[in-house]
Amino acid sequence: MKLLVTGGAGFIGSNFIRYVLERYPEVKIINLDKLTYAGRLENLDTVKDNPNYGFVKGDICDLKAVESLAKRADAIVNFAAETHVDRSIMDPQAFVRTDVLGTQVLLECVRKFGIKKYVQVSTDEVYGSIEQGSFKEESPLNPTSPYSASKAAGDFLCLAYYKTYGLPIVITRGANTFGPNQYPEKLMPLFITNLLEGKKVPVYGDGKQIRNWIYVLDHCRGILSALTKGEPGQVYNIGGNAEKTNLEITQMILEILGKDETMIEYVKDRPAHDFRYSLDSFKLSLLGWQPIFSFKEALKNTISWYSHNDWWWKPVKSGQFLEYYKKQYGSSEPS
Ligand code: NAD
Ligand code: DAU
Repeated sequence: MKLLVTGGAGFIGSNFIRYVLERYPEVKIINLDKLTYAGRLENLDTVKDNPNYGFVKGDICDLKAVESLAKRADAIVNFAAETHVDRSIMDPQAFVRTDVLGTQVLLECVRKFGIKKYVQVSTDEVYGSIEQGSFKEESPLNPTSPYSASKAAGDFLCLAYYKTYGLPIVITRGANTFGPNQYPEKLMPLFITNLLEGKKVPVYGDGKQIRNWIYVLDHCRGILSALTKGEPGQVYNIGGNAEKTNLEITQMILEILGKDETMIEYVKDRPAHDFRYSLDSFKLSLLGWQPIFSFKEALKNTISWYSHNDWWWKPVKSGQFLEYYKKQYGSSEPS
């Protein structure tokens, strides 16, 4: 199978590419990534010389660039997106461009080249917040941030292309994901690296908001199930096995790193902060998927990875990223 992966230099995409190449020698992957601030080629160092892997720097909004790769692909998995809620609140435009227009460009290529399967990697955030119970795939969408609204628009475009043109699209809606290679702006990597640097951790509001956590390899396994077994036109939730408040997560990280609660700094809350996310993943379980990683073990492994790989996150956090990027990749800069 020839797979076009978009956004594969980011957190989940790079874990997915490594996971697939390690296990499926019959799969060839081309990774198209714009290398924004969140895209890191070093995430793919271990596969860069694999004959089944190739990288192209490019933008999913660029129809010509996508066409030149899509015409040789059997399937597409789209990870490419602007992904951080706080950035979307500060500057929504890039989110609409990539998460909406970029998705539509990819769908046009699926239409033009008769791609056999298209997986849109989406998020539980499109459902909005739920006080009790869990969202099912048919629950109404109620996004609250520019990020989740853009992702929801991408989902609607996929469903419209399925209904209108009969395209073989599948949507996955994953929960809060954690693991190695996550950019240190998201809760877990930010808090872990802050504590490793001896800094405090900024908890928004009262820290009582609830997230459903999934280890990155369980999320990748779910996306793979949707790619290989998902029914066209269907949505699959990919939920984790740990529902925790932000304060519980913070306390677990503090404990593993041997720190105490004096390292917590309560800061102003995020605007329109969703209180709770929760997914019902029964539908994906019918395709044979279940999360298999223990939350506590996966959290320990993740903390250990950041502890042993400060070369990966220190340049980003110290503000020397542009300098570092030029050294790594030549003169071009991330946008
Ligand atoms: P990330 O921010 O780590 O990586 C995004 C990648 O997309 C980067 O490599 C970036 O360079 C690339 N990219 C951005 N704009 C692009 C463009 N216009 N053209 C080509 N490449 C572009 O993101 P992530 O956390 O790995 O998330 C991947 C996908 O999974 C996203 O679609 C996100 O919405 C979804 N998702 C993430 C989570 C999570 O908790 N991280 C949970 C559920 C779903
Ligand atoms: O649910 C899936 C989504 O999870 C993905 O679609 C997004 O791409 C991903 O960024 C993530 O969104 P969240 O907003 O849930 O994740 P974040 O790590 O930004 O925040 C998790 C929770 O922690 C949230 O309630 C806000 C809170 N938080 C976050 C940061 C960065 C803090 O209290 N302090 C912080 O500094």
